[in-house]
Amino acid sequence: MDARYSIRWAAEHGLPRLVFLALRGRNDPLARLMSGDEGYDDPYSLIDQLRGDGGVRVTRAGYAAFDYEVCREILRDRRFGVRHPIDPAVPTLLRRYAERVVLPPNPIEAPSMFALDPPDHGRLRKPVASAFTPRAVARLGDRVREVTTKLLDAMATRESVDLMADFAAQVPIVVIAEIMGFPVADRQHFLKWGSDVAPLLDVGISWRTHRRAMAATEAIRDHLAVHIEKLRREPGEDIFSLLVSTSDLTTTELMATANVLMGAGFETTMNLIGNAVPLLLSHPDQLDLLRAEPERWPLAIEELLRFDPSIQMTARRVLEPVEFDGGGPLEPGQSVIVSLAGANRDPVKFPDPHRFDVTRVNAREHLSFGTGVHGCIGASLTRLEVLHALPALFERFPDIRLDGEPTRRRLSTLRGYSHMPVRLKS
Ligand code: HEM
Repeated sequence: MDARYSIRWAAEHGLPRLVFLALRGRNDPLARLMSGDEGYDDPYSLIDQLRGDGGVRVTRAGYAAFDYEVCREILRDRRFGVRHPIDPAVPTLLRRYAERVVLPPNPIEAPSMFALDPPDHGRLRKPVASAFTPRAVARLGDRVREVTTKLLDAMATRESVDLMADFAAQVPIVVIAEIMGFPVADRQHFLKWGSDVAPLLDVGISWRTHRRAMAATEAIRDHLAVHIEKLRREPGEDIFSLLVSTSDLTTTELMATANVLMGAGFETTMNLIGNAVPLLLSHPDQLDLLRAEPERWPLAIEELLRFDPSIQMTARRVLEPVEFDGGGPLEPGQSVIVSLAGANRDPVKFPDPHRFDVTRVNAREHLSFGTGVHGCIGASLTRLEVLHALPALFERFPDIRLDGEPTRRRLSTLRGYSHMPVRLKS
């Protein structure tokens, strides 16, 4: 593995890690939210401490927005761009060295569309967005139902399962791997790689975690190079084959795009399904309502997305000076954390925000899929998958219950569980 990755780690994670550690000792709530057990286990009480009176909150750990309108505005305002991986606050010499190190294609690095501003962003996004229209996605409905039924049939032969590995991860990985034209055998590789790469979304990860993520990105790069070459020679019926043969994207751009789609395509939906199960089980009145009136499920899924989003935050970089009510001026170069979870629990937008209520009328206005030019391309696919998976799970196993504490992943941007033992029958 390339030893120069350590320089990238030092600049992107090592220094912020030290800063977070020092600030956690001084009780800085943003440092506690961004790194450490408290933020992983119960981000919502920290978010409440940080919310303040709106505007952009400034702490020694950085700038962050928790107010619904401010978060929405930042995501839609052209005076903000996507965050550069290396913060301008990093000492110049280290930053210069680190910027010269090229990492293997990954979701958070250009030319991934996540990491590009307009106009380059549009060139990468457009072909993907036109492949994931609600109409194109609706055509996958029968296949999603088939996949779900097969998984539930396999689970029905057992008394207890790990809901994450046996169901929550399987529905989205099967679907996205088919969309991308990968053979069945690749699914397990992507599940492992996805879990190794996911920490890259956080700031301040350990050197060992970074090394593991780099090893996975190298393996994905090699795998994708072969896959794209194969699809060029023998295109399949899948959506990605169409993208390979009809778009003008280079191989590196296709790799970055495949990386985004594979990462975003199952990690997020898997966590949404996983987060939903304990939430519904601990609110039996809400679950009973859904069982009695299943037509309420689409709105319930929006409330699940609002209440416990699987992507808790994103970030933007200030491109032009901006001023918000209740916050100091933001200068070009500064990074701002946009707390999607905070926006979703803003009491001004969602009254009594900590109440999980599947009948909440404006639940769909959550920011869990982001908004603006980077708004989620996979929202329709997610809704389709979860709308099949969750009602079918609770219908098939009416006595389903947790069989021990689920294990939470030690991540702050992605929120979810790694294991969830459940008993399927009483
Ligand atoms: C629960 C499920 C999901 C959640 C919570 C979610 C959330 C998000 C969020 C918050 C963003 C915006 C990030 C930002 O503005 O910085 C985003 C972008 C994106 N999502 Fe999703 N997503 C989900 C599922 C999916 C799926 C299934 C796919 C693919 C099939 C997908 C593909 C994408 C892509 C390609 C982008 C980048 C758009 C761009 O940069 O222009 N997502 N997603």
